[in-house]
Formats: sequence, C-alpha cells, structure tokens
Amino acid sequence: MGIHLALFLFLAFLRMTLSQDIEHGSILVDGIQAIAETDDNFICATIDWWPHDKCDYNYCPWGDSSAVNLDLSHPFFAKAIQALKPLRIRVGGSLQDQVLYEVGSLKSPCHPFQKMKGGLFGFSKGCLQMKRWDELNHFFDETGALVTFGLNALHGRHQISHTVWGGDWDPSNAKDFINYTISKGYKIDSWEFGNELSGKGIGARVGAAQYGKDLIKLKEILRTLYKNSTFKPSLVAPGGFYNKEWFDKLLQVTGPGIVNVLTHHVYNLGPGSDEHLDRKILDPECLSKVESIFSNLSETIQKYGPWSSAWVGEAGGAFNSGGRSVSNTFVNSFWYLDQLGIASRYNTKVYCRQTLIGGNYGLLNTTTFIPNPDYYRSWCCF
Ligand SMILES: *[C@@H]1O[C@H](CO)[C@@H](O)[C@H](O)[C@H]1NC(C)=O
Ligand SMILES: *[C@@H]1O[C@H](CO)[C@@H](O)[C@H](O)[C@H]1NC(C)=O
Ligand SMILES: *[C@@H]1O[C@H](CO)[C@@H](O)[C@H](O)[C@H]1NC(C)=O
Ligand SMILES: *[C@@H]1O[C@H](CO)[C@@H](O)[C@H](O)[C@H]1NC(C)=O
Repeated sequence: MGIHLALFLFLAFLRMTLSQDIEHGSILVDGIQAIAETDDNFICATIDWWPHDKCDYNYCPWGDSSAVNLDLSHPFFAKAIQALKPLRIRVGGSLQDQVLYEVGSLKSPCHPFQKMKGGLFGFSKGCLQMKRWDELNHFFDETGALVTFGLNALHGRHQISHTVWGGDWDPSNAKDFINYTISKGYKIDSWEFGNELSGKGIGARVGAAQYGKDLIKLKEILRTLYKNSTFKPSLVAPGGFYNKEWFDKLLQVTGPGIVNVLTHHVYNLGPGSDEHLDRKILDPECLSKVESIFSNLSETIQKYGPWSSAWVGEAGGAFNSGGRSVSNTFVNSFWYLDQLGIASRYNTKVYCRQTLIGGNYGLLNTTTFIPNPDYYRSWCCF
C-alpha cells in the first residue's frame, strides 16, 4: 500500500497549500516507507434503509435508494460497482435497529417502514423479506461486492427513558436470519452489531457493559452457525460515534477475540442544512479537527483491544442526508480525499462512504445512477 499512502500524504500536504495565498513549493514523496497500512479493500460505500418519505426541509433526497427498494436491475448500477471492484458495501443506517427479518419464527407481520409519531427517527419498525434478501445477494455476488451487514441491536430491549434502552438483546430473529443466509450459501464478509447506539447515542443508546454482553452472545451464535463453514465472518461493532469511555469499556467487557473490528462514524462537517458547508470543506483547519478522534481510537485499540482493528463504518461529511448541491458536487472531494488520507494515516483498514446511493451525499445520483465527482475520487485508493 506504500504508493497509496504516498498519495494520501501528498493530498495531506496539498490541503496546506489550499489556504488563501497561493504559494509555489515542491513536495518530495517518499513512497518506499509505509507509515500505516490499510486493508486491500479500503474503499467501501453504504446502502441505507431510509424510505422515500425521509425528508428534510420539504426536500426528499432518498427516492428509491434503500436496501428494500433500490432498482438492482438498473443498467448503470451493477457496472458502477463492478468498476470499483472489489467494493465493500455496508448495509446499515439509522433505521437498522428497527429492521425485522421475515424468517424462522418471526411472529410480526412483514411491513415496510412507515412514518410514525413517537417512533425512533419518526418511523415504525420495518421488515426485510427473504425474497428481497435473495435478490440483494445475487446482486452482491454478480458485482463482486464484499458485504458488511448491520444487524438490529435493539430487538427485545425496552426503553428505559427517552433515549436510553436497556435489557438483554433478543438474538432469535438475527439468528434465524444468519442461519438462512448460510443455508443459501450467501457470503457475508462481516456482521455488524447496531447503529449509533454507542456513547450518548443518536436516537437511542445502550450502555457499554450491556452491549459487550450481547456481543459475546452474538459471537457464540456466529461460531455455532458457521461451525461447518470454511469461511468465518468478522464481528464488527458498534457502528457509532467514538466516545473514549464507552469504547474502552466495550473492549474491556468483551475481551480477546470477540470484536474483530471497531467501527466508528464520522460527520465532521455538521448538519447538511448548513449554508456555509462549502467554506468548511475548504478550510484545512476545520478538516483536521477530526484527527483527535482517530488518534484516540487507535490508542483505545492499542490499550484495550490489540486483536481488533479500526474501520470508519460510515462517514458522509455533513449529517442528515448531506448538503444539497454540495455533497454531490466537486467541492466535496476536498473533504472526501482529505478524510481518506487522515483515516489511512491512523491505520484505519476500511472507510465506508455514506452513501453509495441515496441522500445528497451519494457516490451515485439517486435517480439517474450517474456517478457524482466523489465516485471518481474513490479510484485514488485501489
Ligand atoms: C438452520 O436452518 C436449517 C434449514 O436450512 C434448519 O434445519 C436448522 O435447524 C437451522 N438451525 C438453527 C440453529 O436455527
Ligand atoms: C455441522 O455438521 C454436523 C455433521 O454433519 C451436523 O451434525 C451439524 O448439525 C452441523 N452444524 C451446523 C451448524 O450446520
Ligand atoms: C482525545 O483524548 C484527549 C486526551 O485524553 C481528550 O482531551 C480529547 O477530548 C479526546 N478527543 C476525542 C474526540 O475523544
Ligand atoms: C440527481 O440528478 C438530477 C439531474 O441532474 C438532479 O436534479 C438531482 O438533484 C440529483 N439528485 C441528487 C440527490 O443528487
């Protein structure tokens, strides 16, 4: 990966020269000495669960881009993924912890997400039909994508207060779902547990001790179900924002060999509705502020979980669907390339861009499937 790192370093230096005054200088890149190492499949992009009626300020940028309604037969779609081969795809997002799987002994009816007052993120529970799961897996297989699937980590818990959830995780539905997946011969590279439930959480949170206990349970289930398989998937968690105390605790509670990958989310540009998003994107100091997250996380891993590695499980720059006419345009590339560079500098093995398609930050346009500028930026790092 030496050459790629050299490129990141070059980009890191480049941003210094982007400040107001133009200066001429020369840059010497030492491409021999590696300062950090990424996974061979560093570039990753996400497919979310948001339905078409997820809107912000009367603008609804999601269309039919969710795991359950994406047009898998669109002629550009498979081609766009194959051209990035092998692309990692992470299926997950805010509504992930409300997804039921239509399999095994599931008693609830299999309904799509619906707007619901008082529901987490304003939506009801939703459901993934196995017919759709079959279609998705045929698509993943055909495109050569490496898949990380985010499981519902709130199933069976109860709300203790407005945002705090407690009680044991009920693994029955996930277990049936994973068993079904194995029985069909679908290869899921890694199973992720939960979405943004770490630290203070976003819509909901779960304590690190409880989370760790449930991860031990999930690992045991994976060991049992994959016993006869030559392939063993990784266990990935928590898919949330870094919080030192919470992450330290999680590794201490789970202990060696349970969590293979710590995933964290990064949205360092603030809300997508910010009118001055482009200014932030072109401000090197603003972009560099994330470094302490990356360095603290690597310290957490060194200290409490040297058996695990770090991934950015989801990063879109600006949160809440990204910035309209910003996150899908050329200027956004300054943020994207800069962060790919910072992440790799801190030994991040995989970086998942929010999103492959959907919202304003898609690598592909939601309705036309035509690549946005950042799609081509991803070519930097193969
Ligand atoms: C897994 O699925 C198979 C059917 O494909 C079934 O016979 C078996 O009992 C299931 N195992 C578990 C642990 O649910
Ligand atoms: C693994 O194979 C053994 C022997 O064929 C069988 O008894 C067992 O049920 C299998 N386990 C799973 C999880 O498929
Ligand atoms: C990183 O650690 C330093 C020192 O403990 C602390 O001051 C800082 O707030 C931490 N930053 C993050 C993002 O965790
Ligand atoms: C997709 O492309 C169309 C046509 O160029 C454009 O009007 C629309 O804003 C784009 N959508 C997103 C979410 O980028």
